[in-house]
Amino acid sequence: MTSLPQQQPEDRPPITAASDWPKECPQMPRTWSSIAFEQKEMVGWFDPGQLARTGVQALLSAVFGSYADRREVQAAFGRPELLDYSAADDLWFDYIADLGDGFDSTYAMARLLAKPALRVASESKSIETQRGKFVVMGGDQVYPTASREEYQDRLVGPYRAALPYADPAPHMYAIPGNHDWYDGLTSFSRLFCQGRWIGGWKTRQTHSYFAIKLPHNWWLWGIDVQLESDIDHPQIEYFRDLAAKEMPKGAKIIICSAEPSWAYLPMQGEKAYENIRVLESETIDPFGHTHMVGLAGDLHTYARYESHEAGQARHRFICGGGGAYLYPTHSLPERFDLPEQGRDVRYGRKSVFPSLRDSKLLSWRALAFPFMNRAFAFFIGALYLVVAWSLQQTSIVLEGINFGPQDTHEQLTYIERIGGWAYNEWWKVFGKTWHLAMVSPSTLIILGLLIFGMIGFADVKSGPGKFFVGLFHGLMHVAALIAVTWASAAFCVRVWPKHPDHFGFTLTFGGLMILIGGAVGAVIMGLYLWLSNRLLGAHTNEVFSCQAIPDYKHFMRFHLTKDGLTMYPIGVKKVPRSWELWMDHNAGATATPGTEWIVPKREGSANRAFLIEDPIDVQ
Ligand SMILES: [Fe+2]
Repeated sequence: MTSLPQQQPEDRPPITAASDWPKECPQMPRTWSSIAFEQKEMVGWFDPGQLARTGVQALLSAVFGSYADRREVQAAFGRPELLDYSAADDLWFDYIADLGDGFDSTYAMARLLAKPALRVASESKSIETQRGKFVVMGGDQVYPTASREEYQDRLVGPYRAALPYADPAPHMYAIPGNHDWYDGLTSFSRLFCQGRWIGGWKTRQTHSYFAIKLPHNWWLWGIDVQLESDIDHPQIEYFRDLAAKEMPKGAKIIICSAEPSWAYLPMQGEKAYENIRVLESETIDPFGHTHMVGLAGDLHTYARYESHEAGQARHRFICGGGGAYLYPTHSLPERFDLPEQGRDVRYGRKSVFPSLRDSKLLSWRALAFPFMNRAFAFFIGALYLVVAWSLQQTSIVLEGINFGPQDTHEQLTYIERIGGWAYNEWWKVFGKTWHLAMVSPSTLIILGLLIFGMIGFADVKSGPGKFFVGLFHGLMHVAALIAVTWASAAFCVRVWPKHPDHFGFTLTFGGLMILIGGAVGAVIMGLYLWLSNRLLGAHTNEVFSCQAIPDYKHFMRFHLTKDGLTMYPIGVKKVPRSWELWMDHNAGATATPGTEWIVPKREGSANRAFLIEDPIDVQ
């Protein structure tokens, strides 16, 4: 039996009827079925069904978000209360973003955050860090779209299993990312803005944006940029009032945003930085404060940019390593100029994780696209098959009319005819396919959709460039489609020469088209993503999202004392893939309160947390 206490601490609020939380601290589970959540796989972003569902929900939330902005509803109920930690002389706190994806990566990071003490080392230093008094989640707490069930399985369940109980309880704050906004912020508000518990963490905020008063005139602002990368008027008013009335002059501010606008400026233009520029010019600069540290995920990778202005170092981070698929570092800007206090301030890239070399090497794995995206491969194989059948049907209809002077008497269908041609007669195959496609509306429609779809998909800014890159990609699929149809037809015609309408013929042909067509089509997609990334710098997101890599995870740990702020970027190169219950792993042992419920079956050196770079001091 475990010695987990059965009562919540005194300050735990009464559980409302609507709450998911039990009145008693749950017993350590003895079976997987009693842990009350499903350990999810990483989201498959190239799964056609998943893509369609996410697309519809994103569209709906964009449409309804334009008419009903929940931030304005929140503002009607008053302003956020100031969250005050300034009485402490010495404070640890954590930041993690882009979590709530596959169980392996999300839980691996949750259990690191949960440990009361964590020793981490860089090449030159080894340091004992402490669990944060609070953790700030920096956006995208759930994937692919927000719902009560997805939050339960991808966030609440893993975090509760990592820290089922703690006394005193650490606090948890969160700002919403675009994925949290996909249900209009309903689930996010229920989870984070109503004083609930996520395992041993207590949520305290009342709005989707907030300000935390830290010791020694440091402040942390969590801002909500909604889906359209903008900050609403009541939010600006709130921070302006705070900066003017509550913050002593010369305050040092850490801003947590759901988007690294600083990195988007060189990638997407000045408009991408407008939200932070307005925030700084209206709420920070006029009152003599400084935006010292910027933290944002959205890109699921680690990078630190640093500037030195007037002898003072400022930092802008990309830090989206809480659980979601890895994003490459080799496409990130090396430097950018940010408009600060009326002039351009240059920030240079100081550190990345994974290394540029590892990032480039990992992009190669996109060539294994079919193995990582089986649903997509099936879909593209089925598409190839539909085109082949459409050509076959057209040829049957046209048999009685005229195929051409030599062919009329043969009474052969498209599949029979091309199946009989030798490999060096490829020009005949292409000629016949062209001939039939031109008189087959269904074939033309499908091929047209395929080619125009690929033109729309091409991640190239210039119009003609986008057209030609997309056209090239689309034509690669058309060529593959014809080649696979020819190869499948040749096989079936040789196995069933006398019975082309045999059921086995049809079944084998269909199976080959889906299997070989799917594999070839998916390889073309992977090759296209890899080539366009390496040659044109395009499809930076897709060349990694198609791989759904759960590794290279990270979070930030902060230690604030009277001597300044020290920042510890903590990373894990490889997250564990197989897990077991703590009770099975430690048969017969007694767990202390707060012990994690699930542990890795094996933990190697690659699973160990380490310092991505030496601790960074800010005065
Ligand atoms: Fe994200």
